[in-house]
Amino acid sequence: MEGPTVEIKRGLEGVIFTETYLSAIDGDAGRLSYCGYEINDLAARASYEETAFLLWYQRLPAEDELAMLSAWLRANRHLPKVVWGIMHSLPEQATPMEALRTVASTLSMFDRSCIHQVEGGSSLCRAVSLTAKLPTIIASFDRLRRDRPPIEPREDLGHAANLLYMLNGSEPDPADAEALETYFVLLADHGMNASTFSARVTASTLGDVFSSVVTALGTLKGPLHGGASQRSMEQLLEIGSADKVDAWFDRLTATKQRIYGFGHRVYKTEDPRATILRDLSRRVAQRTGNTRWFDIASRLEARVLDHPYFQERRIYANVDFYTGPLLYALDVPLDLFIPMFAIARVAGWTAHMLEQQKNNRLIRPRAYYAGPRDQVWNDMPDRVPQVEAQPETQCVASRPANCPAALEVPPRFWPLPESPAS
Ligand code: ACO
Repeated sequence: MEGPTVEIKRGLEGVIFTETYLSAIDGDAGRLSYCGYEINDLAARASYEETAFLLWYQRLPAEDELAMLSAWLRANRHLPKVVWGIMHSLPEQATPMEALRTVASTLSMFDRSCIHQVEGGSSLCRAVSLTAKLPTIIASFDRLRRDRPPIEPREDLGHAANLLYMLNGSEPDPADAEALETYFVLLADHGMNASTFSARVTASTLGDVFSSVVTALGTLKGPLHGGASQRSMEQLLEIGSADKVDAWFDRLTATKQRIYGFGHRVYKTEDPRATILRDLSRRVAQRTGNTRWFDIASRLEARVLDHPYFQERRIYANVDFYTGPLLYALDVPLDLFIPMFAIARVAGWTAHMLEQQKNNRLIRPRAYYAGPRDQVWNDMPDRVPQVEAQPETQCVASRPANCPAALEVPPRFWPLPESPAS
């Protein structure tokens, strides 16, 4: 069979499909900026609300403008009453990301208030609504699953402080709120990462803001993307103490497993957000008097940096690595790490959505068809089964109520064809 006559860009690596005015990444120099402002400056000076303004309007706000946007965001933190019914009916086994995705999607049916005459006005209004409400959804879900009543948001608190308040029921230490706010600023946007790309694909069909954000939430969850923050903390918990890092690292490298929180498609040097998060994480750990997780992370990073495998591949800590010890020190439950990422990134997703629709062209790449051609149709009696049906399959298909064990174990289906590459 003839091979493709075009070069296939697996994972769209290096493909530039649009221009953006939102964030710029220099992967070799390890630099990141939003609308021309260096991430170090933003992390040190900007609030999350100010960063959201920057991304949505592509300029820094004047004092009154920031006050207006803050008030708009804060007034939007409350969830519509009817959404509470849905929150209460979520199954016990729902994960926070499943809850977030479901409730964010539900919101679109109750949000018909954004009617603006200005171009993109209704989309911006929905971007504000979602950015304001994601923290409320997550905090409320977390409290409900712990049999605690949800806490109404407070309009006098900043974005991070209000979230910590809604999670814990008490006003946070200002230093904790500041650390989380910095984390939100650092993660607000990041070029054409997987979730942002997926949001733009939905936007390019002229889909609405809710659909774009729900698409992005689904993409973020995967362990190669936002899911790595939780996985990387799970690694530290598995290691348990700094003196066990070496044995763990040797075992992992010997079995050629991936270490979460390391490596990046674009950065071939240290991710500038990791530099800031390392420092932030150290400071929070020292302040709380528990440096255990930071120490393990530090030792693990030293082993990675010192190992030829990682050196040859230019693999360094990424944004998710020091996120782990930071959020853990702030008492954020492990399975809320990915939602925290989403709460930060929603400003970027929606800014990209607005940008996509300003100068839209449907995103529709192509794939090289590598399968067989000119097949001859076989009628059913002429088809030869390749595997016998398994008893579990029959059980699940016919009487699920009578075989709960089979429901827990997925039915065995026919093996998928192996790809030529495997
Ligand atoms: N641990 C061990 N080996 C790694 C790692 C890692 N974390 N990352 C990359 N490699 C190796 C691969 O095995 C591969 O080796 P090979 O050349 O011998 O086959 C080589 O480095 C290149 O890896 P790719 O997966 O092809 O590189 P890609 O650019 O697609 O990877 C990715 C980027 C997916 C982030 C990868 O580094 C990874 O899986 N890291 C761990 C997961 C993670 O931390 N993800 C969060 C990324 S940041 C974010 O999305 C917010």
